[in-house]
Parts: sequence; structure tokens; C-alpha cells
Amino acid sequence: METVYRLNLGLRTASRVLLRLGEFHAAAFSELHKRARRLDWARFLRPGQAVAVRVTCHQSRLYHSAAVGRELAKAIGQGLGGEVSLQKFDPQAEGPLPALVLARLVDDQCTISLDTSGELLHRRGYRLASAKAPLRETLAAGLLLASGWDGTSPLLDPFCGSGTIPIEAALIARGLPPGRSRRFAFMDWPDFDPALWQSLLEQSAAARRAEIPPILASDRDAGAIQMAQANAARAGVAGDIQFTCQAVSAVEPPPGPGWVVTNPPYGLRVSGGKDLRNLYAQFGKVLRLKCPGWHAAVLCSDPSLIAQMGHQAAASFDTSLGLVNGGVPVRLAIGRLRF
Ligand SMILES: C[S@@+](CC[C@H](N)C(=O)[O-])C[C@H]1O[C@@H](n2cnc3c(N)ncnc32)[C@H](O)[C@@H]1O
Repeated sequence: METVYRLNLGLRTASRVLLRLGEFHAAAFSELHKRARRLDWARFLRPGQAVAVRVTCHQSRLYHSAAVGRELAKAIGQGLGGEVSLQKFDPQAEGPLPALVLARLVDDQCTISLDTSGELLHRRGYRLASAKAPLRETLAAGLLLASGWDGTSPLLDPFCGSGTIPIEAALIARGLPPGRSRRFAFMDWPDFDPALWQSLLEQSAAARRAEIPPILASDRDAGAIQMAQANAARAGVAGDIQFTCQAVSAVEPPPGPGWVVTNPPYGLRVSGGKDLRNLYAQFGKVLRLKCPGWHAAVLCSDPSLIAQMGHQAAASFDTSLGLVNGGVPVRLAIGRLRF
């Protein structure tokens, strides 16, 4: 259980943590029911509880996923000595989420897992306000980790929007776990150990790093900066980020070299009719004049926009990582600026 708590508390890029409860042969509903009922449900669920069951079936005699889900709900209820109420798992719905059980049938072999996280882990609890096209917090943390940022050199995001990249950067630099101020599904389990959870929180607070590098975040939109500051305050890192409302052309980086990690507008979600080619050309010029020798990681859906940053900047990006942002395929261009 300590591992379950630690993973949910500390993982920066995972979406959820599943606990494997069992794996068994199930080629008929009776077999599925008998085996599933015997799993140790009482540690995690209570009779009468709302449960959602998500089922996938591949090359198995039990192929009707909804029927498998209903049978599993019956088996779970009987395993608990009562019944459970079968519900849909809808993270957008009002009110508490049902417990989520996942079943996967492949070649008549059934694997049962329980979601330990509840709301997806990108929901850290700090981002109530979001500007246009915010990044998922897990993706922002992923960009920082993939950029190779060492957590001790300066960091700059000149298109910060609601502040997701600099906030995740401050959490990384301080060594603070992203899940410290939210609830998790495991907190509702009958065997939840609040004292153990509290001790993990205290350990992580005690390990908070005292010194962090300059983290600079700017955006030309005053509303975005206000939201970013409110989000940073909720994340407990308001004092760790220097926010400025300014256009990218006005950016003044601290002595470096450091890292520029950013998600400029790229047309699909934020275009505003502006000339994106000019914006990228201007961004390239800022990097050339003000950030020589810095590292850069730029998230963008369109490689031709990266080319607009100028030959030298574009040639500096020697790695291109394929990612998905809000369902859109994007690439993270990573490199060290060779000028
Ligand atoms: C894709 S959004 C960034 C989203 C951000 N990563 C987040 O998680 O909220 C791009 C941002 O660039 C800003 N922007 C557009 N043109 C700009 C410019 N010339 N200078 C500075 N910021 C600009 C927009 O206001 C917008 O907030």
C-alpha cells in the first residue's frame, strides 16, 4: 500500500495508477463469476458502494463487454456479502466518482485491476483557472523532463498561458510531489492508513529543496498572467516564479545558459488570426540575440513553424519527440542553441 500511496503522490507524468488484483482463466460467465468473487474486494470496497467496470475483450469466448461488466459487478457484490451499484465512470459528472474496476480479457485470460487514483493524475488540484489551450499538467511535466532541464539552471517560458510549465518546473526544482494537495481513490478504501499517508506528506515536505534557480514566465495576455499567478499560489509556488506580462520580443533572460521550455501558439487551438510565421520568426530572433548557448524545447504541431525560427535555431533542434496534446499529434523539438 505504501507503494500505491507513493506512486500517486509523486509521479509527475502518469495518468493513473492501477493495482493488479488478479489474473485467471475465464471462458464462461460461471467461471468468471466464481474466480472474480474470490478476490479480496473487502480491502478496497464496501457493500452498497458505487462501482464502474470498464471491460475490454480480445479473442475470448466472453466477448460481450457490457455483459462481462454486469457479471463482474454481481461477483464483486457477492464477494463483499451484499451488492454494489453499477455506474458509469464519468469524470465530468458532479459528485464523487464511483470506484473503477478494469477487466481485460485476452485469449480467455482475465486480468482484473482496480484504479487507485480516482480523478486522473494531471488534476493536481491547483489549476482552477485556465487560459486558452492549457497543457495537461502531466504533459507539461513531461516536456520539462524530456528537455533535460537539470532543475538547477534558469528556466524560461515566454508563452506561459495559465502557467502550467513554470508551475510544474517549480514543483520539480523544489522536489515537491505533485499530488500533495488532492484526494485519491485509495483514501476511500476500508484499509486506508491515514497515518502512513500523513507521514509520506511530512517526509516530502521535509525534503523540500531550499534553493531553486530563477524560473521566468511571461505572456502578452494580462488575463493569462493573472490566472497563472492564481494557479501558482494554489500550487504553493507563487514566490518561486517571476511572472511578467509582456510580448516575447521584450523577454529579458537571466544570466545563463538555462533552458527555454515552451508551448507557443500553433494555430490549431490558439491562432487568433495572427501571423504565426512572424511570431515564430520573432521568437527565433529573441533566442538568437538573448539566449545563445541555452537549451530549448518547443512544443509545436507544425514543423514548418519551427523552420520559421531561422536556419540556425531550427538546425539546433536535434531531437524531435512525438506526443499528443488534447488529441492533436504534436512534436517536441529539443536541442541546444548553437549560436
Ligand atoms: C498555447 S498557449 C500556452 C498554454 C500554456 N502552456 C498553458 O498551459 O496554459 C500560447 C500562449 O502564447 C501567448 N502569446 C501569443 N502571442 C504571444 C506573443 N507575441 N508574446 C507572448 N505571448 C504570446 C498567448 O496569449 C497564449 O497564452
